[in-house]
Amino acid sequence: MRVIRLEWGVTILAEYVNQELNDKLSTHFPSELENFIFNDLKAIYDPDFHEVQENLNANEEKLQKYLGTYFPRSFTEINLIFSELFCNTYIKSIFDKNEIFILDIGSGTGGNLLGLLWSMKDLYENFEHKDIYIISVDGNNKALDIQEVLINKFFPINVDLHVEKSKIWYDNIYYNLDFLLDNCQFKFDVIMVVKFVNEIYRKEYSNNEGMYKLLIETVSDYLSRDGLFILADVTDKIENNDDLYLPKIMNKEIVNYLNSTDAKLRPIIPLSCAFWYNSCTAKKENCFTQRKIPFKLNYSKNYNNNKNSRDLYKFNNLTYKVFAHKIAAEKILEKIERKKHYKIAEGKACIEGTYIYEWPISANKYPDAFSFCTFK
Ligand SMILES: C[S@@+](CC[C@H](N)C(=O)[O-])C[C@H]1O[C@@H](n2cnc3c(N)ncnc32)[C@H](O)[C@@H]1O
Repeated sequence: MRVIRLEWGVTILAEYVNQELNDKLSTHFPSELENFIFNDLKAIYDPDFHEVQENLNANEEKLQKYLGTYFPRSFTEINLIFSELFCNTYIKSIFDKNEIFILDIGSGTGGNLLGLLWSMKDLYENFEHKDIYIISVDGNNKALDIQEVLINKFFPINVDLHVEKSKIWYDNIYYNLDFLLDNCQFKFDVIMVVKFVNEIYRKEYSNNEGMYKLLIETVSDYLSRDGLFILADVTDKIENNDDLYLPKIMNKEIVNYLNSTDAKLRPIIPLSCAFWYNSCTAKKENCFTQRKIPFKLNYSKNYNNNKNSRDLYKFNNLTYKVFAHKIAAEKILEKIERKKHYKIAEGKACIEGTYIYEWPISANKYPDAFSFCTFK
C-alpha cells in the first residue's frame, strides 16, 4: 500500500492497493445514488476543490462540487457508524419501533441523513413500514433544496422531511432551536451534528468558542429517553496552532460538559470515553481522537475525466462521539467487555482515561475505541 497524496482530511491510496482487502474494509457509496447525483444533479468530482471549508454561502457551482466530492464521504461515514451502532442489540431494539424522529443540525445537502436512512433500510426488513419524521436545519437554502430532492427521490414513501433554514451561532442556538422545536410533541431518537462546528469555528472561533459544549447541553433536552446524539467533525486545525485541532477542542469542551453537575448525557462511543469519562484527563492532555474510515467510490464514468479517476479506495478522517442519556448508556454498554486500553487514533491510545500518544504504532494493536463490532 502506498500513500500518494493528502487532501482535506483524506488520504488517497495508490491504485494498486489490495482490492480484495479494501473491498472488505470499505463502505460502498451506492451506485444508484452516485448516478443520480452526477446525472441529474450535475455533481462535479473535484478532489482539488479547497473551498470546502465554507459552505454556508455556497452557490450552485460550489454545491455541485460538494455533492460530487464530499457528500459521498459524509454518506459513507455515517452509514458505517450506524451499521456498527446497530450491532448493539439494545440499540437495534430501540429502532425496532414504527415511528422514528430525527433532528439534523447543519445538514447541508443531506449526506449524513441519507447515510443514516440507507443503513436503516439495509437493516430493517420492515423499513418501509416505519414512519420517519425528520427536522433538518441549515443556513444554506440551496443546499436544503438539493437535500429535499434527494430524500424525495430515494425515500419517497415513509420519510417526512421538514427543512428549516436557520443561521445558528453560539449566541442564538438556544433561542433558535427553542423557536424551531417549540411545537414538537415528541423528542428525537437521533440527533446529528456532522461537520458543522468546524465551519463556525473557522469563521469566528473567538465569538463561538464553547459551541460543542453548548450544542450537547442544548440538544440533551430534545433527545428521547433512548435516543442517540452523534457529534462528528473533520480533524484538521482551524488555525495555525496545534492546540486548535478540532478533535482536541471537541475533547476539551466535552470533558468540561461531562464534569458539570447538570450533564444529562454520557458517551457510548468511543469506548474509552464511555468507560472512563469520569476520570478522563483530556482537559490537560490535549487528547486527539480520530478514526480512519475507508470507503469506496464506484469506478464509473463520473470520475473518468479527472486525473484522479483511478483513486477508487479512500480513507476519510473523522472525529466523533455518540452520546445517550445515562440510563440508556448503561443498558447499551452492559454487555460490552471493558478492555484495559483502546486505540483512539493512529498510534494513540487511551489507557483507563489517560491519553498515550507514543508515535508511531504502539497503540495500533489495541482494540478500536470506535466500534462495538469488528470492521465490516
Ligand atoms: C461541511 S457541511 C456538512 C453538511 C452535512 N452535515 C454533511 O456532512 O454533508 C456544513 C454545513 O453547515 C452549514 N452551516 C455552516 N455555518 C452555519 C451556520 N452558522 N448556521 C447554519 N448552518 C451553517 C453549511 O451551510 C453547510 O451545509
